[in-house]
Amino acid sequence: MTIAFVGHGYVGLVTAAVFADLGNTVWVVGRTKEKIERLKKGDPLIYEPGLDELLKRNLAAGRLKFTLDYKEAVVASAVIFIAVGTPSKPNGEADLSQVFAAAEEIGKSLVGYKVVVTKSTVPPGTGKKVAAIVEKVKPDGSSFAIASCPEFLREGTGLSDTLHPDRVVIGTNSDRARDILVELHKSIDGKAVLSNVETAELIKYASNSMLATKISFANAISFLAEKVGADVEKVLEGVGLDKRIGRSFLYPGVGYGGSCFPKDVKALIAIAGEYEYDFKLLRAVHEVNNEARSNFVGKIVQHFTSLKGKTIAVLGLAFKPDTDDMREAPSTDIIHSLIEKGAKIAVYDPIAMNKAKEKLPSGIRFAKDPYDAARDADAVAIVTEWNEFRQIDLVRLAKGMKHLVLFDGRNIYEPARVRELGFMYYGVGRM
Ligand SMILES: NC(=O)c1ccc[n+]([C@@H]2O[C@H](COP(=O)([O-])OP(=O)(O)OC[C@H]3O[C@@H](n4cnc5c(N)ncnc54)[C@H](O)[C@@H]3O)[C@@H](O)[C@H]2O)c1
Repeated sequence: MTIAFVGHGYVGLVTAAVFADLGNTVWVVGRTKEKIERLKKGDPLIYEPGLDELLKRNLAAGRLKFTLDYKEAVVASAVIFIAVGTPSKPNGEADLSQVFAAAEEIGKSLVGYKVVVTKSTVPPGTGKKVAAIVEKVKPDGSSFAIASCPEFLREGTGLSDTLHPDRVVIGTNSDRARDILVELHKSIDGKAVLSNVETAELIKYASNSMLATKISFANAISFLAEKVGADVEKVLEGVGLDKRIGRSFLYPGVGYGGSCFPKDVKALIAIAGEYEYDFKLLRAVHEVNNEARSNFVGKIVQHFTSLKGKTIAVLGLAFKPDTDDMREAPSTDIIHSLIEKGAKIAVYDPIAMNKAKEKLPSGIRFAKDPYDAARDADAVAIVTEWNEFRQIDLVRLAKGMKHLVLFDGRNIYEPARVRELGFMYYGVGRM
């Protein structure tokens, strides 16, 4: 099948490349000439494990094509996916301007019958708005159906998540569009959930909000564990062994970040508000998440009393391992807060250093490795749980440090082992 994607970010490019690898011809529409030229040469512009190779292979095979011209992509395609950004507005609502702009361009280019699918995360009711936009601008004689296929991939494991998802959600009110989308997804495993458009749109927000709730629940338990002298990791192991609950996503730490959970939780609160439902549970999830970050900084402040003149080495900047994505990364808030309190900062991240430079204040030292970051530091703070940090030679790290204090924001070390090496150790929710 020939299909098109509008947007070549973490979702658009990864999904496009996977569909191309499955033998489809895939057009990707962008809006910046320089980026499209780089993509045509095989530069994915983002870091996602395995994407580089997949991109090059499918470019060489002629299955993946990049263009600035909507018409070229839309005319050739049976299905057009909208995979543009839906960032938060200041009031928490989803900003749909990129989706509507894409819908208008697709509409103007329609020829014959097309299926227009939102893959971006959009509030229930957006499909109808997209349909109205396309209907208004489409040429006479053309026709279309609207669908919603929300994306569930995780950055860092995007390729296998796209190929082997837990489920494929196809929401549409058109039998013809449903048949086309089921056929397109036939090589992708994962149970198909067939629904109307609004249901599919809500499934995505409900899923991300549930995952965020699990993280905030784990963090709330960690706050309490510290007070009662319990070990949150053991508590959650004990809880998670209950098959009705499971251990996954019960991660205590410095809170969730990234381009999805914070914005989707806020958007679902806003969506509920529009329908006069106060989503108290999610407001608390958001609040606990902020508390997780401020508690972590609070521990550092409490240890030193004053951070004036102290140097903190922050290890990990990306919002999670195996990505260079810095959107809403907890590291940003934590670093700003430490600087505000007078600390000097050295940082290291295996992949996200360049993107971090655009987000972080000046005066930060960008180190070449964890040992360089920890040089002359009064403390090390682990903010992202990169595997590289689990393997750190703590004896070597200690040699360069001024004071041996370790704040483990992701509980990646065994407290007793770290203390044996002479460190003062502070984890999350454990002594
Ligand atoms: N990143 C994830 O892990 C993830 C996972 C699931 C769902 N989502 C959702 O998918 C959507 C996209 O997320 P992302 O992380 O890929 O965003 P992104 O910011 O990485 O990519 C968005 C892309 O859209 C392009 N774009 C915007 N307007 C355009 C237009 N009019 N024409 C052509 N291109 C245009 C941008 O240039 C960019 O390449 C969002 O709604 C997000 O919530 C993201």
